[in-house]
Amino acid sequence: MTRKIIIDTDPGQDDALAILLAFASPELEVLGITVVAGNVPLALTELNARKICELAGRPQTKVFAGADRPLMRPLVTAEHVHGKTGLDGPDLPEPAMRLQDQHAVDFIIDTLRTKEAGSITLCALGPLTNIAHVLIRAPELAPRIREIVLMGGGFFEGGNVTPTAEFNIYVDPHAAQIVLQSGVPIIILPLDVTHKALTTAERVERFRAMGTRAGDASVALLEFFERFDEEKYGSDGGPLHDPNVIAYLIKPELYRGRLCNVAVDAANELTLGMTVVDWWRVTDRPKNAFYIRGIDADAFFDLLIERIARLP
Ligand code: BDR
Ligand code: CA
Repeated sequence: MTRKIIIDTDPGQDDALAILLAFASPELEVLGITVVAGNVPLALTELNARKICELAGRPQTKVFAGADRPLMRPLVTAEHVHGKTGLDGPDLPEPAMRLQDQHAVDFIIDTLRTKEAGSITLCALGPLTNIAHVLIRAPELAPRIREIVLMGGGFFEGGNVTPTAEFNIYVDPHAAQIVLQSGVPIIILPLDVTHKALTTAERVERFRAMGTRAGDASVALLEFFERFDEEKYGSDGGPLHDPNVIAYLIKPELYRGRLCNVAVDAANELTLGMTVVDWWRVTDRPKNAFYIRGIDADAFFDLLIERIARLP
């Protein structure tokens, strides 16, 4: 049985690789792509999402624009990481496919209402603003969500945008709080795991060897994306974040984690957006998330490369 997913995203080079992985995987049915402001403003993230669909040969995919700003804070973007367009690297043509008229939040609400309860997985690759709007507007739908699998946070590894905060959670910490308190089953792929999935030169060469349009575009995306983190961390390659969300759905056995409490600080400037993870279960706060720390990184890249090689 295929798993029905909605991808909520702010592309982003690593978001792009995640979307390609989902399209290339028969285990997953992408019902729609909902777009949020994050790495770059909404007008660019929605354009980028459509470019990626066309790159994958999937122009019939429905792409919906959502929130153009966080719930309560001004938008913070990351052009210094992703480039001016948010998708710097490959030279992708202007998309011919249209953006849907419906708002992303309405699309998610309608889908949850009309599809079988417990059948929809939300994959969150950016700030959690759209999903928080869904939960605020229609809290009665929370029990109908099968699970939310999200890339965000970091605890043992520290933050990547402040010493304590990861970008997706930092941009909209209030949205993250709403999601974490929703009672929906939540799986978190934080920096603690994505920093173990490095785009080494040898791994990037395997994308080049595909000799396909998607393979060449992946190389250009990865080579642009890793330059910032290679300099920052002094590593061979940079962490590849968002594709872990999709890989987890296809092969959860590649990952190790535990159910524990995860809370977000939205009150203190110094630690704004910090995910506080009760890994050792020293509080009696509710166990609200499956927090992942371990990965078989070689098997993750084997999966990603084998799948993206199937695309045109
Ligand atoms: C996250 O922030 C974005 O820059 C990436 O696309 C990823 O979702 C990593 O902190
Ligand atoms: Ca992202």
